[in-house]
Amino acid sequence: MSAAVTAPAADAPTRTAIVDLSRDTTPVGEPILVATHITRRFGGLVAVHDMDFTIPKGSIVSLIGPNGAGKTTFFNVLAGVIPTTGGTIDFAGRRMIAPQHRTWLESFVWFLPSALVAAVGALLFVAGIATSPVAISLLALVGIGALIAMLLLAIMRPVWYQKALLRLGILRSARPNDMVDAGIGRTFQNIRLFGNMTAIENVLIGMHARLKANPADAFLSTPRKRREEVEATKRAQDLIRLVGLKGKENEVARNLPYGDQRLLEVARALASNPVLLLLDEPAAGMNPRETNDMMALISRLRREFGMTVLLIEHDMKVVMGISDRVTVLDHGEKIAEGTPDEIRRDPRVIEAYLGTPAA
Ligand SMILES: Nc1ncnc2c1ncn2[C@@H]1O[C@H](COP(=O)(O)OP(=O)(O)O)[C@@H](O)[C@H]1O
Ligand SMILES: [Mg+2]
Repeated sequence: MSAAVTAPAADAPTRTAIVDLSRDTTPVGEPILVATHITRRFGGLVAVHDMDFTIPKGSIVSLIGPNGAGKTTFFNVLAGVIPTTGGTIDFAGRRMIAPQHRTWLESFVWFLPSALVAAVGALLFVAGIATSPVAISLLALVGIGALIAMLLLAIMRPVWYQKALLRLGILRSARPNDMVDAGIGRTFQNIRLFGNMTAIENVLIGMHARLKANPADAFLSTPRKRREEVEATKRAQDLIRLVGLKGKENEVARNLPYGDQRLLEVARALASNPVLLLLDEPAAGMNPRETNDMMALISRLRREFGMTVLLIEHDMKVVMGISDRVTVLDHGEKIAEGTPDEIRRDPRVIEAYLGTPAA
């Protein structure tokens, strides 16, 4: 199937790039993601222990390990799905994940501007400066406006707002939507497509985070909204072609063969224009031919678009051909890290996969 994939350059040019990495300015080879001392406990069980992990921009790195090693747990911490028990993750130069710190203080920040307005108003009233009904109403309006503005900020969380909170020592760890905004796309170990929707609708949903039209545009069907819709559909078609599903755009996701569903998940993840793509066992349950197609697609994403990929796999053989570096996890601990060749020869890795010979 990979041979049948049409090169994007050969297709009609699009106004919106199929895969656009321009948001991130990290130089190729420099770390785009740095995880330091990540630990995740579930009650008494330490699923990931003191994990240091770096992903250089433009590389394909793999995290492998036997079932239950803690790969998905680490992945979910990276994606902001579950909080970390300890350690930090920086992505594209920003602190994204860390244990929550002083989050209670944030609600005080929301009320601070309106409280200040109220205090100033009270002072002016007592001093006899602002006693007329007009002045009081004006102050009340400013106070309410300040409160609404702060609540909107709290919902939209622009980067400067998060940085200001950090300066106050308030750290709210990133949620999955924050990670998507920052440029992390993912697939799931168990396929999670919208089964009743068509292939192209699934990809369009993945694009949602990047669309700019607002509810008013949608309601009035403004030219901007219509233009964006046309472009989004075109790009969704390009993505479907890129992963090798050309001609299956209008098939209901549930009816696609298993391997195609996995490829569609990749297309949906790419739709959000991620800088880093996280793939949790993308070849799980695939036959050897489907596995080859998936691996060919992953190397092509890096080769043609410079995509950075973190691949999680329990089957060591699958990742060896395409990874620059491999990290091996066993019982939540990093037991080895290196090039595929180094990993293949590492006695601890062989032991983790084949078991300790009986003494
Ligand atoms: N939500 C959870 N609650 C309790 N234990 C969990 C949870 N998620 C994972 N675990 C445990 O953490 C360990 C690592 O699991 P996981 O990260 O899924 O491993 P892998 O993906 O490497 O197969 C396992 O022992 C698993 O049972
Ligand atoms: Mg797993």
